[in-house]
Amino acid sequence: MSHAEDTGSRRDFLYFATASTAAVAGGAAIWPLVNQMNPSADVQAMASIDVDVSGIERGTQLKAEWLGKPVFIRRRTDEEIEAGRAVDLTDLPNNSAQNDNIAEDADGSDQNRTLDAAGEWLVMVGVCTHLGCIPLGDGEGDFDGWFCPCHGSHYDTAGRIRKGPAPLNLKVPVATFVSDTIIKLG
Ligand code: FES
Repeated sequence: MSHAEDTGSRRDFLYFATASTAAVAGGAAIWPLVNQMNPSADVQAMASIDVDVSGIERGTQLKAEWLGKPVFIRRRTDEEIEAGRAVDLTDLPNNSAQNDNIAEDADGSDQNRTLDAAGEWLVMVGVCTHLGCIPLGDGEGDFDGWFCPCHGSHYDTAGRIRKGPAPLNLKVPVATFVSDTIIKLG
């Protein structure tokens, strides 16, 4: 091999080596950006979950976890339903339903906060609307609903704020019955 040929092939080798290194580096730099734009498989799987509510008796509830937050699913008694419906909406500190199931938060009516016309099934994100603590619930507080011990917010039997520093009713997530015993969240 002549000196000229040798130099040429070395130059070619360096060129290809540099080009392929750049391609690898470019790929490595772009991947995290592309990857960030796609929800991970974990997040996609958790975006909606099915919750079996067959074991919930009236007057009891379960706590599910959805998108990293607690969700209270309560099957209310007739007394709880009546107590919620008896409240004059103008007495509520927040008379917006905070309900993702309805297109607009038209009012805070008890019916709009439950999954069924009878008002038995109440589904709410279990995060206090003041500063995010998890309220205690099972007839707690001055209104027999949920009570947040962090700064003393009282929610009623429909999860509406009645007293204390929390500004809003507990949020109602998108939820639907997909069978007689399964509620889908999300
Ligand atoms: S976080 Fe619930 S009252 Fe402050």
